[in-house]
Amino acid sequence: MSPRSYLFIPGDSDKKLAKADGAGADALILDLEDAVAPANKAAAHGKVAAFLAERPADKRTCALWVRINPLDTSAALADLAAIVAGAPDGIMLPKANGPADVVKLGHYLDALEAGAGLAPGAIGILPVATETAIAPFRLGAYAEAPPPRLSGLTWGAEDLSAAIGASTNLDEDGRWALTFRMVRSMMLLAAHAAGVAAIETLYVDFRDDAGLAASCRAARAEGFSGRIAIHPAQVPVINAAFTPSEEEVAFARRVVQAFADAGDAGTVGLDGKMLDMPHLKQARQVLVAAEVRGAS
Ligand code: COA
Ligand code: MG
Repeated sequence: MSPRSYLFIPGDSDKKLAKADGAGADALILDLEDAVAPANKAAAHGKVAAFLAERPADKRTCALWVRINPLDTSAALADLAAIVAGAPDGIMLPKANGPADVVKLGHYLDALEAGAGLAPGAIGILPVATETAIAPFRLGAYAEAPPPRLSGLTWGAEDLSAAIGASTNLDEDGRWALTFRMVRSMMLLAAHAAGVAAIETLYVDFRDDAGLAASCRAARAEGFSGRIAIHPAQVPVINAAFTPSEEEVAFARRVVQAFADAGDAGTVGLDGKMLDMPHLKQARQVLVAAEVRGAS
């Protein structure tokens, strides 16, 4: 089951790396990109490599991902060369221009995995799929030919703003502005069309737990299955929001039971409302998610 929470840890921060295990995240993203100043990149390579080496794949309590620099920079290869031997569970690829970038990264990983004696194809890829101006036009291509290793899709508003010269990504009501709502929805559709996880972007106000919880509930209701976190305090809020609640599980059981009681019927009534196949499918998904998360 795809992670609910992916917590960013700046790869050059000993203090934050030391707090990472205790955060309770389903996945960590050890960052080598924009959370690390250029002067600290080399030190971050060493720290992230050591962090991975101290947590071998068979002893991990959460998935360990690494965000590398964009593929059109020479830093990307240096990042990969420094960390692949530590067998990360996956690579987050920022500023991806489309699935061709994921294919290219996959080829690099093929070679580096072989060099490190790792199982071929073990390392997944999560592209940030809306951070350049061209990227949204290629979202459908992730579904037409899903690249090997594709684990999910996520989106980002900050870099896209910079890429298009937008001075804000919010509208007058404080919601995402139209361009950002549009690419978010397209990413969501592309992820489902490709059959991979849809991961919601970060919530920047890390002291606002109530706002984060409401935003996560909305995202989950729309079809996202997890979210990026930037602060440890966000992790429990995100994990809870992306775990089916007791009420949801109870209702899903009643839906499944109603169809079972009705024999071969394609549609049934429950609490005065019509249910058909999409409702049954959704109920089964809730029960699977609840079982995996131990929430039932
Ligand atoms: N991972 C691990 N530990 C973290 C953390 C993170 N992402 N964010 C904060 N902490 C630690 C702090 O070091 C601090 O530790 P301390 O109690 O030992 O001093 C504690 O949690 C409380 O932090 P707080 O004071 O609330 O926040 P801050 O001002 O130190 O940090 C940020 C705020 C935004 C700079 C920090 O949360 C951060 O670096 N987030 C990740 C940023 C990132 O990677 N961005 C890239 C993707 S957009
Ligand atoms: Mg960015």
